[in-house]
Amino acid sequence: MRDGIPSFTALAVAFARGVDDVDPVAQSLMPFPLGALLRAGHAAKKRGPLRYLLRASPSTHLPLRTLAIDAVIARATSEGVRQLVVLGAGLDARAWRMPALADTVVFEIDHPATQAYKSSRIGDRKAMCREVRFVNVDFAKDDLETRLRDSAFNPSAPAIFVWEGVTMYLPPAATEGTLAAIARLSGAHGVLAMTYATPKLAGLVAPVRPIVRAAFGLIGEPLLGLMSREEARARIERAGLALESDTGAREWAREAGRPAPWVPIAERLLVART
Ligand SMILES: C[S@@+](CC[C@H](N)C(=O)[O-])C[C@H]1O[C@@H](n2cnc3c(N)ncnc32)[C@H](O)[C@@H]1O
Repeated sequence: MRDGIPSFTALAVAFARGVDDVDPVAQSLMPFPLGALLRAGHAAKKRGPLRYLLRASPSTHLPLRTLAIDAVIARATSEGVRQLVVLGAGLDARAWRMPALADTVVFEIDHPATQAYKSSRIGDRKAMCREVRFVNVDFAKDDLETRLRDSAFNPSAPAIFVWEGVTMYLPPAATEGTLAAIARLSGAHGVLAMTYATPKLAGLVAPVRPIVRAAFGLIGEPLLGLMSREEARARIERAGLALESDTGAREWAREAGRPAPWVPIAERLLVART
C-alpha cells in the first residue's frame, strides 16, 4: 500500500462484484467513469455475449468467493454471532447489503487511505446492520487487538472475522500477527473466513507468473504473502485455530448453484473456528 493512495485492488474486486449481481451497492462506490460502465455492463449482460466474456475472465471467481463467505456469515449469525470484523474491508458492502446482519455490529478494518475513500463514497447511506464502526489499521504496523478494543469490540462475545482477498498482499509476519490477535479476540465460538492465494497464481504457466507479480508491484500492492495450502493450514494451527474447511472456486460455484469459472484460479477460502 502507498501512503495516501486508496487500494486499487479494492476498487477492482468491487467492480467485479458489481458486474455480477452479487453486490448492488458496488456501483455507488465507483469513481467516474467506472459506475457508468457498470450500469452499461448490466444492461449488456442481460442481453448477451458479455456474460460469456465475463465467465472467461480471470476475475470470475471473485463474486463466487464473496457468495461463499456470505454463506459462512449467514450461518454464524443464525448461530447467534453478533459481531462481524471485516479485515482489509476495501469496498466490501456487506454492512449495507446483507439483511442477515440486522442485529450485528460490523467493524470495518482497513488501511487509512482506503478507508477514507470508502467512507467518503458511502456517505450517509443507511446500513442494514445494527451499527458500522470504521477502524483504521495498517496490518504491517498497527496493533489490531488494541484498535479493536478501543472501538468497543467485545472479546468475550463470539465474533466472525472475514479476511477476504488480503493476505496475499501482506508480509508473512503481518498475517501471523493478525491470526494470533484473532485467536485472542474471538472468544468462544469465534469464526474466521480467510482467503489466500497459492504461488501457482491462477494455474498460470511458470514464465507468466513473474509478469503477474511485477504488475501487482507496479500498482503499489505487491504479492508479498502467497502461501501453499500446507503453509496456510500450518499458520492457522499455529495460531491455535481449528481448521474446518479449505475450499476453491469449483466448490464455491457448486454451493452457490452457479457455473464454475473457466479460468483456474489459485485463491482458496479457509474457514476456522476458535
Ligand atoms: C483486494 S482488496 C480486498 C478488499 C475486500 N476485502 C474485498 O474483498 O472486497 C485488498 C484490501 O487490503 C487492504 N490492505 C492491503 N494492505 C494492507 C495493510 N497493510 N493494512 C491494512 N489493509 C491493507 C487494502 O486497503 C484493500 O482494501
